[in-house]
Amino acid sequence: MSLSIQEKIKSVIRDVPNFPKEGILFKDITPILLNPTLVNELVAAMADQFKNDEIDAVAGIESRGYLFGILLAQKLQVPFIMIRKEGKLPAKTIKESYDLEYGSATIEVHEDAITPNSNVLIHDDLLATGGTAIAAAKLIQQKAKVVGFSFVIELEFLKGIDHLNKINTHTKSLIKY
Ligand code: PRP
Ligand code: MG
Repeated sequence: MSLSIQEKIKSVIRDVPNFPKEGILFKDITPILLNPTLVNELVAAMADQFKNDEIDAVAGIESRGYLFGILLAQKLQVPFIMIRKEGKLPAKTIKESYDLEYGSATIEVHEDAITPNSNVLIHDDLLATGGTAIAAAKLIQQKAKVVGFSFVIELEFLKGIDHLNKINTHTKSLIKY
């Protein structure tokens, strides 16, 4: 019997205890990248989750959101928008700040990368508390519409989905823990 894409991905994701700090079990996706066939299957499965949606662009969140985000945009044959951490983009940007456990962070995007009122799908590798994805959504909403969220992994026990649902209920995660 052949394995599902979810089973294949789970079989290669590496659990790293106590990273980045004591008590955290880190889900390491880097082994996926060592298997090009699996990357192809993963991207096809993610694109399939949005096959009935009208998507004008995919916005990926720095940095791990770039790994599969650009491939997803290519698969859907739409533009890829880079959402970056502050201070890295050279041209005119729009910004959004959000709270972290300690302090705050700011993300930004090139203003001309977003077509006004277009339908943007936000992609990241992982949904944890949802803070990063919410900030990305608010950033995109300064100029366009958020049609949904795409993640490779969702950590369900952190309930980030409850925050995302306030913006858009169309969230798809390939695998959940
Ligand atoms: C991780 C992950 C998501 C975010 C999820 O990124 O890649 O972007 O945290 O957490 P949240 O749902 O609680 O906001 P990180 O900030 O570690 O940076 P990286 O992608 O550059 O490794
Ligand atoms: Mg990240």
